[in-house]
Amino acid sequence: MTDLSKLEGELLAEIAGAADLGQLDAVRVGAIGKKGRISELMSKLGSLPAEERKAFGQSVNTLKGKVSDALDARKAVLDRAALEARLATERADVTLPVRAGSLLSGRIHPVSQVFDECVEIFADLGFEVAEGPDIETDDLNFDALNIPAEHPARQEHDTFYFAPKADGSRLLLRTHTSPVQIRTMRSQKPPIRIIAPGRVYRSDSDQTHTPMFHQIEGLVIDETTHMGHLKWVLEEFAKAFFEVDEVRMRFRASHFPFTEPSMEVDIDAAAIGKPGQWLEILGCGMVHPNVLRNCGLDPEKYQGFAFGMGLDRITMLKYGIPDLRAFFSADLRWLRHYGFSVLDVPTLGGGLSG
Ligand code: DAH
Repeated sequence: MTDLSKLEGELLAEIAGAADLGQLDAVRVGAIGKKGRISELMSKLGSLPAEERKAFGQSVNTLKGKVSDALDARKAVLDRAALEARLATERADVTLPVRAGSLLSGRIHPVSQVFDECVEIFADLGFEVAEGPDIETDDLNFDALNIPAEHPARQEHDTFYFAPKADGSRLLLRTHTSPVQIRTMRSQKPPIRIIAPGRVYRSDSDQTHTPMFHQIEGLVIDETTHMGHLKWVLEEFAKAFFEVDEVRMRFRASHFPFTEPSMEVDIDAAAIGKPGQWLEILGCGMVHPNVLRNCGLDPEKYQGFAFGMGLDRITMLKYGIPDLRAFFSADLRWLRHYGFSVLDVPTLGGGLSG
């Protein structure tokens, strides 16, 4: 009996002294494992005189029960301590500044920034973003937009053509985002409200022209749209985009084959802190009945407006960037100066330009 209580004292002390789960398991194996000290006592049972066997067996079982309970209790304590230690080391302090590295030093190109700003503004006005390919057909880039083969507007566009195919048709690099109007009207039913930002190409190069540049197209089609809606949308856009309360706008009569009437729109440069000048920012008009017909829409029932804006141009105006060619020269110093933080996503609520 004294041996058993001595053994109990020793084992409970070992359990209490186990500093981690590994040590505790070693104690468990040494006590109640197959060759542990308690298990060995059990195996001696058979060699005892019959009258002692029962009492000894009960005592060893009681000891085993106490030791097992103590092991479980200690394990629970050590498990909790291990979890707390892990939580302490894995804790992330979200208030810390961003670490130096690509996320901090990377820059969003001004054109991408303005693209996102425009999407944010027009999405708030209920427009969806539509897309079309850079490589287009003659039909979608010109004919369907009411620009037939001999139309002078074709010359103005300085088009990059691919080699003609066997059937005589030619693919081209789209010269404007207007073909997305056709794609949308041929694949969706009115009411339609889309913007289509993207790359366009013309064989032209000087300080204000590059062979590739960006436009953003807008199209609204339904049964009651009129020029008042067009003016309102453009005014709301200009105020939101230039982040001012008022923008004076001037609508000048113009001509585009795919709109009738057509207008060019200037803004008072007071919007960018340079009063006294008018700056042209876009072309627009009411969608020409021929264009509607080319898309299977009845012009007696449906009308709408369209506009096309140079994204690079409005970027230069808003952010005071003088030379268009620098946009595409991949000069890191330029990008660090004019670029935007990756983490400043433009939102109407939080501020467009951060
Ligand atoms: N596609 C024209 C261009 O590239 C711009 C334009 C003018 C688009 C008037 C339109 C529009 O949708 O209505 O010069």
